[in-house]
Amino acid sequence: MYSQTVMEHFMNPRNVGQIEDPDGVGEVGNSVCGDVMTFYIKVKDDHLEDVKFQTFGCGAAIAVSSMVSEMAKGKTLEEALTITPTLVAQELGGLPKNKYHCSNLGAQALGKAIRDYAQKKGITIKGLELKGEEDEGEE
Ligand code: FES
Repeated sequence: MYSQTVMEHFMNPRNVGQIEDPDGVGEVGNSVCGDVMTFYIKVKDDHLEDVKFQTFGCGAAIAVSSMVSEMAKGKTLEEALTITPTLVAQELGGLPKNKYHCSNLGAQALGKAIRDYAQKKGITIKGLELKGEEDEGEE
């Protein structure tokens, strides 16, 4: 079923919570399962200085959020935008097929938080155009 890494991140999720005065916020939900994920980012010198999340969802969604936050922290915005659902699932040692959408949510929520930051600042970031809002909640 679930890999040990998934179980470990589910039991001890990293970076849970909210950032006070965040530079960007991204919330996504999946209309089928009803799960909701919110990512908060703090940006300094083009890098993700801090990443936190709040997830109301399944165990896989919590493990995904935790992994995405770890993968993204310290990266440049451009690098963080290269985090794909497939990469997240790989880092977690795989996900059951019917849980792939959970990894989509994680990558989308992070991408949306970065988009929010870019919009507030009026800047463009390479890779952002690939993170269309239209794919939100996609299976
Ligand atoms: Fe929907 Fe996991 S079941 S995010």
